Amino acid sequence: MDLNLNNIPKHVAIILDGNGRWAKERGKARVYGHRHGAFNLRDVTKYANSIGVRYLTVYCFSTENWKRPNDEVNFLMNTPVWYIKRYWKTMVLGTNIRYKMIGRRDRLPKKLLAAIEEMENETKDHDGLTLTLCIDYGSRDEITSALKNICKDVLDKKLDIDDINEDIITNNLFTKDYPPLDLMIRTSGEYRISNFLLWQMAYSEFYFTKTYFPDFTPEKFKEALIEYQSRNRRFGGLK
Ligand code: IPE
Ligand code: IPE
Ligand code: MG
Repeated sequence: MDLNLNNIPKHVAIILDGNGRWAKERGKARVYGHRHGAFNLRDVTKYANSIGVRYLTVYCFSTENWKRPNDEVNFLMNTPVWYIKRYWKTMVLGTNIRYKMIGRRDRLPKKLLAAIEEMENETKDHDGLTLTLCIDYGSRDEITSALKNICKDVLDKKLDIDDINEDIITNNLFTKDYPPLDLMIRTSGEYRISNFLLWQMAYSEFYFTKTYFPDFTPEKFKEALIEYQSRNRRFGGLK
């Protein structure tokens, strides 16, 4: 079976997992895997953009990943900075990809935040795929902050409590302008969600693979899309 270009999911999310184990299998330090994960993300993003995926949302650092050793946390915080510098001309300015970051911004190193904001700003009018890096992202944290915003609107009398509905919750999440999530992929053979896009995944399709992220090449991404295209999405109906 080949990929049907008329049925490309609009919004795909990936839990980029297995970088550490990939490196360990090669007798290298875990951070070596993170670097290769970043190279691979570049290739997958280019491919996804070329076939018409509109939103690619990738889990890079969770609100729980601060528990890791300092050295690894520092490396992970520095990886986007290094990447943005290295690929500024080719992957940032030289493409139509729009870059976004979602997650808490108040705990990130200043250098990282500045690099991300510059990239978001420079690419805000790009009309290709939107690549969203989820950094210091946790879905429960996102839902909690949405609830706080909604409560404030109620207290300020901008919103009546009886008017709270699913759309209002959706519109208070970081992903408020995004289309519904069609496909959620997790690499590395773990069968869990680890606090990612809990509200958004209500009707998304799931694809789990044992492949570690650095080996999850565009070809493997394509296999996931082909599998997605064989699914019968009913959304509770009888289609
Ligand atoms: C994914 O790879 C990247 C992050 C979570 C930051 P891991 O670092 O979790 O790699 P494994 O799961 O330990 O192999
Ligand atoms: C999930 O991976 C977070 C990211 C990929 C950024 P983890 O490796 O942190 O998840 P657990 O700990 O195995 O659930
Ligand atoms: Mg992991």
